[in-house]
Amino acid sequence: MKAREMAKVAVIPGDGVGKEVTREAVKALRAVTEGTGFELDLVEWPHGADRYLETGEAITDAEFADLQSNYQAILLGALGDSRVPGNEHARQILLGMRFRLDLYVNFRPVRLFHERLTPLRDKRAEDVNFVIFRENTEGVYVGMGGTFKQGTPDEVAIQEDVNTRKGVERIIRAAFEYARRNGLTRVTMSDKANAMEFAGGLWRRVFKLVSAEYGDIESEALYVDMLAMDMVRRPERYQVIVTGNLFGDILSDLGAQLAGGLGLSPSGNIHPGRIGLFEPVHGSAPDIAGKNLANPFAAILTAGLMMEHLGRPAEAAKLEDAVRACILAGEATTDLGGTLGTQAAGDAIVRRLSVADAP
Ligand code: NAD
Ligand code: IPM
Ligand code: MN
Repeated sequence: MKAREMAKVAVIPGDGVGKEVTREAVKALRAVTEGTGFELDLVEWPHGADRYLETGEAITDAEFADLQSNYQAILLGALGDSRVPGNEHARQILLGMRFRLDLYVNFRPVRLFHERLTPLRDKRAEDVNFVIFRENTEGVYVGMGGTFKQGTPDEVAIQEDVNTRKGVERIIRAAFEYARRNGLTRVTMSDKANAMEFAGGLWRRVFKLVSAEYGDIESEALYVDMLAMDMVRRPERYQVIVTGNLFGDILSDLGAQLAGGLGLSPSGNIHPGRIGLFEPVHGSAPDIAGKNLANPFAAILTAGLMMEHLGRPAEAAKLEDAVRACILAGEATTDLGGTLGTQAAGDAIVRRLSVADAP
C-alpha cells in the first residue's frame, strides 16, 4: 500500500491584504490537492497586528519550537500595520522566522507571463525570466547597532552590516546549485564592493572560490547600482542573481515590477531539508486593504512554491498554469488591467483547477 502523504502547514494571513490574498491561496490549495491523496493540514495562526495589540505578544518561543518540530511549511500573507508604527511585530514574526529558523535562502523568481504586463518597451515574455537568491539571515537586517544622543542635534545612528564567511558561502552555493539543477548558464553576484570594501571583499573572494567549483557555469560580479540599471535595460541577460539581504530586497521589488508588479511576485524562505516559509513579495498594502482590490495571484504562486517544497511539483505546476491561463484570458484584478475583485480572481483560479482535474 502506498504511504499516506501529508504535510502540516501554519497559515498566517497576517495584516491588511495579507488576509485577503491568503484566503484565496488557501482556496486554491484545497482545490489543487482535492482527490490527489495528498493531505494538507492547514492550521490557521492568528499572528499579526491585531493579536499583538491585544496581547502584547508577537510570537512566542514555544510557538517557534512548535513550528520547528511539527510543521513542514508556513504560508504567510503579509505583516505591517499603521497602528504598530515601529513595525516591531513584523520584525519579531517575519524576520524572527527567517533568522531563528535559519531560512538562509530567500528565493524570488521573476517571471513575465505576458509581454503586455511589463513596463519595458519591446521585451517579450521570455526576456524577463530570472531568479534572485537573496541572503536572508545577515546583512543590515540583523538589528545590531544603536543610537546615541537620540533626539538631540548630535544624534548618531549605527546599523551594522554583518557578513559571515559561512552565510555568504551558503547562499552563493545555493545559487550555483540551482543553476546547475536547472541547466542555467550564468550566475551574477551583486554587491557594492567599490564603496563597501570589507563586505564586498568577502563576497567577491567567496564568489570566486565557489564559482571555481562550477566551471560549466559563467560567473560575474556586478555592482548593485549597475545591475539595477541593467535589469531594466537588458533583463534577458540575467538568469540567477545572488546578493545580500538589503540589495536583494530592493532588486526583488524592481524585478517584480518588470514582470507585472507585486501582485504577481512570489517568494520562498528556505533552508533545504527544513521547514520553509512562503510569502508573496508584497506587503500589507494599506492603500488598498479591505477593498477587495488586492491581486491574489502572488499568494497563489507562492502556494505553488510551497507545494514544490513539499515535494508536489505537479500541484505546483497546476497552480502556476492556472495563474497563467487566467492572465491570458484577462481574468484578473485591476492592477493587471482586469475587472475582477480579489475573491472573483481566486474563484477564477479555482474554476481552472477544477477543469484541469476533470477526467
Ligand atoms: P506594499 O508591498 O504593501 O505595497 C506597495 C504597493 O504595491 C502599493 O501601492 C500596494 O497597493 C501595491 N500592492 C501590494 N500588493 C498588492 C497586491 N497583492 N495587489 C495589488 N497591488 C498590490 O509595500 P509598502 O506599502 O511599502 O508596505 C506596507 C506595509 O507592509 C509596511 O508595514 C511594510 O513594512 C509591510 N511589508 C511587509 C512585507 C511582508 O510581510 N512580507 C513585505 C513588504 C512590506
Ligand atoms: C520583504 C519585506 C521585508 C524585508 C520587510 C517587511 C521587513 O520588504 O519581505 O521583502 O525587507 O525583507
Ligand atoms: Mn521587500
